[in-house]
Amino acid sequence: MAENFAFAPWMESALLRVEQALSHWVDAPQLTDLAPDLPRAMRYAVLDGGKRLRPLLVLAAHEACAAQNGAALAGAQAALRAACAVELIHAYSLVHDDMPCMDNDVLRRGKPTVHVEFGQATALLAGDALQALAFELLTPAATEVDPGIQARLCAQLARAAGHGGMAGGQAIDLANVGRSLQRADLQRMHELKTGALLQCSVVMGAHCGAADAQALQGLGAYGAALGLAFQVVDDVLDVTADSATLGKTAGKDAYANKPTYVSSLGLEASQRYAKTLLTQAEKALRDSGLRQTQALQALAHMVVDRAH
Ligand code: IPE
Ligand code: IPE
Ligand code: MG
Ligand code: MG
Ligand code: MG
Repeated sequence: MAENFAFAPWMESALLRVEQALSHWVDAPQLTDLAPDLPRAMRYAVLDGGKRLRPLLVLAAHEACAAQNGAALAGAQAALRAACAVELIHAYSLVHDDMPCMDNDVLRRGKPTVHVEFGQATALLAGDALQALAFELLTPAATEVDPGIQARLCAQLARAAGHGGMAGGQAIDLANVGRSLQRADLQRMHELKTGALLQCSVVMGAHCGAADAQALQGLGAYGAALGLAFQVVDDVLDVTADSATLGKTAGKDAYANKPTYVSSLGLEASQRYAKTLLTQAEKALRDSGLRQTQALQALAHMVVDRAH
């Protein structure tokens, strides 16, 4: 990424790589005869939709770190696998989040949700299988990705997806329907249910790019601020945007009595807080000591300024 870095073409080419890789890897041909719905539901959940923010963060963090080391291509294969793996975990989390036992949503990425299209049992299994596939992607032959990197990526992703991350945050969300949470508890819930996977995306990219301690620290703080900002904006958009723009049902949080930043702080204070978090993310990037952070900067702005 040189001085005259242009974000739009960077993003277009990164998205193309991610879409092609996901389409290649999300495939379960051995099931097509006896259980055709599972592979169909897996592809339905992952392909043709989604902003792909988490994969973009992996690739941008990898490129920033690899460029710093003067080895732009080193770790690129690991980074593409990590980018797809985190998107699979995210897609699985959405499939389960939408099920009747959780948020009971019928619209996702502009299409009927997976359980509406395929039934609850298949939706449950598709989520399970996508989660497993994420870790399969992270563990190819040792000739393809260094085993030490593989282990580190698996550990990061497992932690961010599990009880101390996404799943734990989802449990807090569901256990507190109809309650108003203290500010610190609300922050904790958002950091876990959404922030953890976003921060993990950045950190996985950094590991693939052989980041040094200063870069890891700065990118970790960037990912934490951006991850929290992302869910604050998700809460805001639930109130300010319409279903057609979002590709999911607007107004669901108030309807379901969810504790959100908007219900707790109000709309304008939530919007201001997202901007504050953007400033924190930008400062953390400067503190990282990395020079080529334009894509990461642009992604942080995209998180806070997005319309959907
Ligand atoms: C939605 O995530 C769920 C949350 C974690 C708030 P995204 O807004 O990234 O969803 P897609 O991937 O673009 O559909
Ligand atoms: C979900 O948060 C976060 C996940 C871990 C999937 P939300 O329930 O607010 O996500 P949306 O609004 O349905 O996308
Ligand atoms: Mg939810
Ligand atoms: Mg939901
Ligand atoms: Mg939401």
